[in-house]
Amino acid sequence: MSDHPLRIAIVGAGGISRRHRAAILAQPESATLVSVCDARPDAAQTLASSLTDPASTFGDHRVMIDAGGFDAAIIAVPHILHFDVAKDFVEAGIPVLVEKPLTCTLDETRALRELSARNDTPVVAGQTQRFNREGFWLRNWVQQEPPGFGSLRSFDIHSWQNLPAYLQGTLGLPPGADHWLLDGQRAGGGAVISIAVHQIDLVRFITGRNYSEVMATGRYDPPFYNGAESSAVVLFRMDDGSSGALHANYLAVRTPYNEAMHLFGEHGTIVQHAERIGQYHGPLFYSSDGGEPATAWADMYQGFTTLPEDEMTGLSPDPFTNQLASFVQAIRAGTEPANTVTENFNTMACIDAIYESLRTGQPATVATA
Ligand SMILES: NC(=O)c1ccc[n+]([C@@H]2O[C@H](COP(=O)([O-])OP(=O)(O)OC[C@H]3O[C@@H](n4cnc5c(N)ncnc54)[C@H](O)[C@@H]3O)[C@@H](O)[C@H]2O)c1
Repeated sequence: MSDHPLRIAIVGAGGISRRHRAAILAQPESATLVSVCDARPDAAQTLASSLTDPASTFGDHRVMIDAGGFDAAIIAVPHILHFDVAKDFVEAGIPVLVEKPLTCTLDETRALRELSARNDTPVVAGQTQRFNREGFWLRNWVQQEPPGFGSLRSFDIHSWQNLPAYLQGTLGLPPGADHWLLDGQRAGGGAVISIAVHQIDLVRFITGRNYSEVMATGRYDPPFYNGAESSAVVLFRMDDGSSGALHANYLAVRTPYNEAMHLFGEHGTIVQHAERIGQYHGPLFYSSDGGEPATAWADMYQGFTTLPEDEMTGLSPDPFTNQLASFVQAIRAGTEPANTVTENFNTMACIDAIYESLRTGQPATVATA
């Protein structure tokens, strides 16, 4: 591939595509936004026209593919459309970065994996939190089984959001208005697939372990409908015998968006939670070797430390920028990008098993193929 900036198309010009556009604008020497598609012409126009060199706009991604003129695409549409849209690009030989969750069903993930291999065209899952630079650092640290952590024994994660308050407060929808995230058909489920997918995937990324079995129970309170769980509690068993728990809650009334993680190793703990109102999660920090064990809440984080800033150079504080840089670099070099459909398989298989367990009330095995 020549050394002109990689020409990028975006499908879905909604909320998150503003972050993708900013990530493209942050690296003009390697990427440029040339094409935007949205079913709402005004949304496509707004995203495309703010550029110095305005991007072309389309209302249908198939027309966009026929028009060509780009090297790769970012797909950021409601979940139910991820598979169909990605499939059309991959069949046209265009590499795609598909927002999380990669697909709504495991069969769709399998089909995309097969299509990607057959067409020799990369499909990357947009698990953006993998590109948080602290996560990168911790992954390398944990996977060396350092004396300060050892091997993973158990973990606890949560993903809480008051989604109706977000829809009204941030998106400005009137009370009771519909949104695709409330609809189990268009979102592929509720709190698990839409937000907890981040933490579920992050545990895999940091620890290098895969999910092998789950047991889940949930609630289906309005305004969620069509089988979207408003909350779920899940137990996990990992492939190395470690275990964990998740509380996913989309009706966390009067609670700000909040994600947290505790990874308990043989010798230490890794912690991530918000430190102040307005943050949806705080920095990752970990217990160091030294210091006395805490015996009181007041000094529970005695001996903990945040990550060494000087070892995180070369990565942006913005995970969308890091994610795009990694995607662009691999496509230009013709190498395998990070977090392909194959790497993402266990995350999607875990989510599939959670939905099976929610349906049956029984433990479910996480598919391996
Ligand atoms: N990585 C992250 O941290 C993160 C954060 C938020 C959202 N997301 C993901 O990004 C995706 C989009 O979320 P969002 O919050 O931007 O949603 P959104 O509703 O704001 O935007 C979706 C856009 O897709 C458009 N659209 C609908 N059907 C279309 C079609 N057939 N063709 C083209 N455009 C179509 C809609 O008009 C809308 O503008 C979802 O997968 C979501 O889970 C990821």
